[in-house]
Amino acid sequence: MQTSFTDNYDKDFLLDTMMGPNAMRITEELASFLPITEGMRILDLGCGMGISSILLAEKYHATVFAADLWISPSDNYRRFEALGLAQRIIPISVDATNGLPFAAEYFDILISVDAYHYFGANETMLPRLLPFVKTGGHIAVAVCGLKRDFPRGEVPQELQPFWQPDMNFYSLSWWQELWAKESNLRLQHCREMDCLQQAWADWLKSPNPYAQRDIPMMKAEAGKYFALVQLAGQKI
Ligand SMILES: C[S@@+](CC[C@H](N)C(=O)[O-])C[C@H]1O[C@@H](n2cnc3c(N)ncnc32)[C@H](O)[C@@H]1O
Repeated sequence: MQTSFTDNYDKDFLLDTMMGPNAMRITEELASFLPITEGMRILDLGCGMGISSILLAEKYHATVFAADLWISPSDNYRRFEALGLAQRIIPISVDATNGLPFAAEYFDILISVDAYHYFGANETMLPRLLPFVKTGGHIAVAVCGLKRDFPRGEVPQELQPFWQPDMNFYSLSWWQELWAKESNLRLQHCREMDCLQQAWADWLKSPNPYAQRDIPMMKAEAGKYFALVQLAGQKI
């Protein structure tokens, strides 16, 4: 059996830097659908503490702009520098809802892992992000989602105690329909991800208090509702 980059990574480091289902594992699966080559310029939007960026820089030798709202770029810079990655990962503070400080067509690839549902579950975000991707380049997103949308949007009773207003969990077909409205994008590789269970199991082992809070939620969920939704496409 093939072992993954993520499985061989420093487990304590990952447990300390995860902010949800293991973003390094999710990024590794997402990246396997993308034509990443050495030196490509990638925007990692909503990178959190940067474990997705670290995978892209270490496994693929890409140049990554690690952009996030909640996590300070100084903290991320220290982390990247300690790993010897300061030349390949550029930390930056952005709020995607306020526009991005980059040149048009600057990135070969834009990725976002477990973050896009906080700011992108609407018709306006994709058309605002796409101009920063080169024509022929790619955008790829992985979000926490649902196997099926809740009927009438009503959260099942067993999940209600855990539900937060900003969760924005939707099904693959909900997201696909949203992205299909964008005429400058050829949709490719939209699917539910295989690493769902393992990525969540990794997270629940983290000492992060939010992980501890998620343990009863995942017990209540019991494999019935959640999915990891992957969306990927090429800018045309
Ligand atoms: C659940 S955390 C996941 C972080 C990281 N991607 C990971 O999986 O470890 C969600 C991330 O989305 C980012 N985020 C939320 N709203 C954002 C916005 N408007 N612009 C940029 N990032 C945003 C937050 O800063 C946060 O780090």
